[in-house]
Amino acid sequence: MDIADVASDLSQALYSDQQIQDRIAQLATQIDADYADRADQDLILVGVLNGAVMVMADLARKLKTHCQMEWMAISSYGSGTTSSGVLRPLKDLSVDVTGRHILVVEDIIDTGLTLSYLVDNLRSRGPASVEVMTAFRKPEAIKCPVDVKYVGFDIPAQFVVGYGLDYAGRYRNLTGLGVLDPKVYAQG
Ligand code: XMP
Ligand code: MG
Repeated sequence: MDIADVASDLSQALYSDQQIQDRIAQLATQIDADYADRADQDLILVGVLNGAVMVMADLARKLKTHCQMEWMAISSYGSGTTSSGVLRPLKDLSVDVTGRHILVVEDIIDTGLTLSYLVDNLRSRGPASVEVMTAFRKPEAIKCPVDVKYVGFDIPAQFVVGYGLDYAGRYRNLTGLGVLDPKVYAQG
């Protein structure tokens, strides 16, 4: 679905499908250049379920670097619109990452809590390197500063949906990104 299909649920359209695709392509070019001299082993992309499915699929296909796609799941949100701050690992990697280059692929960084937990967890496994790519970041909401090498877009600290990001399971399949109108969560 596109922004126009759910326009009445959004208080603001932020980015179109095309704008997101163009930005991911720029980041892919940068990542290809940065990993060109580390081609002895394939890069491991670690996507954070469920939100990162779209950015993972798009970034991986735009890269010219060989990469493996791996997934982790951490629960922090429930179905609401504010972070509970309680993290729970739900799914782990299926490969040993000792000595490997890891690029964490995130949908959005809000407080940074999920990411700092994840980066600490991955670092403890002895990888060659851990870097982070995120489609979106809310700079005003950061509570746990994490070094993020690749950022798609910095956005206002409002609840957004689309491009993998949901509200109560909906809108992940929205191709663009928009601010969810508070009347939608007031209803339910
Ligand atoms: P933290 O606060 O740990 O949050 O950086 C990370 C996770 O929270 C979810 N999140 C959102 N989901 N719209 C969403 O649909 C948002 O505006 C939003 N902000 C944070 C997301 O899963 C992210 O990985
Ligand atoms: Mg997420």
